[in-house]
Amino acid sequence: MTLQIKSFDEYKEVYKRSVEDPEGFWAEQASSFQWRKKWDKVLDWNFSEPNVNWFVGGKMNITENCLDRHLEERGDQVAILFEPNDPNEPAKEFTYKQLHAEVCKAANALRANGIEKGDRVCFYMPMVPELAIAVLACARIGAIHSVVFAGFSAQALADRINDASCKMVICSDYNNRGTKHIPVKKIVDDAMALGCDSIETILVHKNTGDSIEMVGGRDKWWHDEVEGQSTTCEAEEMDSEDMLFILYTSGSTGKPKGVVHTCGGYMVYTAFSFKNVFQYEEGDIYWCTADIGWITGHSYIVYGPLLAGATTVMFEGVPTYPDAGRFWQVCDKLKVNQFYTAPTAIRALMAQGDEWVEKYDLSSIKVLGSVGEPINEEAWEWYYDKVGKGNAPIVDTWWQTETGGIMISGLGSHSPMKPAHAGYPLPGIQPCLMDADGNELDGNDIEGLLCVKFPWPSMLRTTYGDHERCRLTYFSHFENKYFTGDGARRDADGMYRIIGRVDDVINVSGHRMGTAEVENAINEHPLVVESAVVGYPHDIKGQGIYAYVITSDPVDDEDVFRKELLKVVTKEIGPIAKPDKIQVVTGLPKTRSGKIMRRILRKVASGDTSNLGDTSTLLNPEIVEAIKSGALG
Ligand code: WTA
Repeated sequence: MTLQIKSFDEYKEVYKRSVEDPEGFWAEQASSFQWRKKWDKVLDWNFSEPNVNWFVGGKMNITENCLDRHLEERGDQVAILFEPNDPNEPAKEFTYKQLHAEVCKAANALRANGIEKGDRVCFYMPMVPELAIAVLACARIGAIHSVVFAGFSAQALADRINDASCKMVICSDYNNRGTKHIPVKKIVDDAMALGCDSIETILVHKNTGDSIEMVGGRDKWWHDEVEGQSTTCEAEEMDSEDMLFILYTSGSTGKPKGVVHTCGGYMVYTAFSFKNVFQYEEGDIYWCTADIGWITGHSYIVYGPLLAGATTVMFEGVPTYPDAGRFWQVCDKLKVNQFYTAPTAIRALMAQGDEWVEKYDLSSIKVLGSVGEPINEEAWEWYYDKVGKGNAPIVDTWWQTETGGIMISGLGSHSPMKPAHAGYPLPGIQPCLMDADGNELDGNDIEGLLCVKFPWPSMLRTTYGDHERCRLTYFSHFENKYFTGDGARRDADGMYRIIGRVDDVINVSGHRMGTAEVENAINEHPLVVESAVVGYPHDIKGQGIYAYVITSDPVDDEDVFRKELLKVVTKEIGPIAKPDKIQVVTGLPKTRSGKIMRRILRKVASGDTSNLGDTSTLLNPEIVEAIKSGALG
């Protein structure tokens, strides 16, 4: 059984042990899983290449631990509880036995279609049970899944398919999300038209049944391939360090990179963190509202909960359909015990008024979780008072795609809690704060750059196809440390408060975005000479996107031009990257070395032009006045 910490004193003791003897601690945690062969060595690492190996030589399959291991004890317990977009449609249940059978059938279908261990399979699907089933089917046969959030554009999808040379795409026909009817398969076809030579097969799950085009020899129906397959499937034996999945995420520069996670350590850490952060107890109903297209969905809808033998809710819809009470209606209906969502959703629902949340019985809720961006105090208080009725602790979970699992967070009600503070590190996690010169800042009541100085089992191993990029991005800033890209404060009590990104990554509605990516998209417009994108504080989204654009010729109609730019961004990345504000400028503030001084642009975008600091080192200080006077409020 995975260790479950039950008091703050116990946390302190376990934490101490985990730091003094990490190998002993993690070996203990790992021993509650099914291994085909036990590891020879717990940990082998350096952060200079980097090269990190957990449970070296161990052999296992994560799906045997998610599914087979539970069959005897809880075969008839619900594993996945699916709540459809349409509230009038009944929820669908998959017990562990049924899920096991469905995963085996799907795994056999993948093998029958030539998918083998090590092949990459891309997913572009709505939040339907078949997504979880097919992801697990990949893991069962050792294929590497690469799930692409279905809000990305055909171009973004094609880029990701090509970066990993995926052999297959699994998609649905259409997606019903809120009132939207999204032609998912058509977007996949558009991606293919952009050139995805590695794709041999597209498996299409019939979701809505509306008509689509099927290309002979390439496109196959999911049900044709899966139905009739055997309900058992021998799982592939995986090494602890074999790749489990790739997940693309944005950084400061260039195209999104494929963060690689491996089997053994990811398994141990997602299960451990799930049980402890959410204090999941036998029989609880756990709901994480994320999409499986993001890391939160991977680790805390699929793997963590299933490894822990939990009942995990999968929700197809959106928080505001058919009305702003949907989350709470579902919590009431399914008697949800742990509820995990993003601050942006909390703020959006808070703005709709208290009556929506007051309509429903939320007394089943024991733990509330927050993830993806800093939660402001007002949203925290509302979540605590109105949703939790002052009875449920909030776990503010800080982590990243790269960390694989929750790093800093309270453990249910067993940790001290402070609004907007993530709190203390989980056992085995050794965060530290650094100054810009590379000195570790000791003591409390300080602020610095957040790093981690010792490996943890679910950390990223590489970025797909480009290990040097992984080293440069995360391990080259500070010797022997993983750099997170976040700034943080450690308060007088030693609790961490995440301040936000210190690089050119912004967080829009909990979606992580590289400003460079948005700039590259904007620059595709023929009239654009140069652009600079920054984030600015936004009441609901956390950060909004503010774009400064230089054009080659004067723009006749700025409204038309802005609309064109939004179209270009939607085409290149997807609607989630659309700038909220676009200011046409004649120049950008640049240093003598030609670097854009983003500090000034951020200030102007935030509406605060009172003190722009020293602008005398600029090549073109006169531009600052012009930008200020044209700023969009
Ligand atoms: C931010 C999401 C404050 C942070 C799991 C991080 C947070 C980035 C929190 C990773 C939190 C995530 N408080 N900020 N509780 N959780 N972040 O990769 O800036 O989509 O670096 O992973 O989100 O975003 P990602």
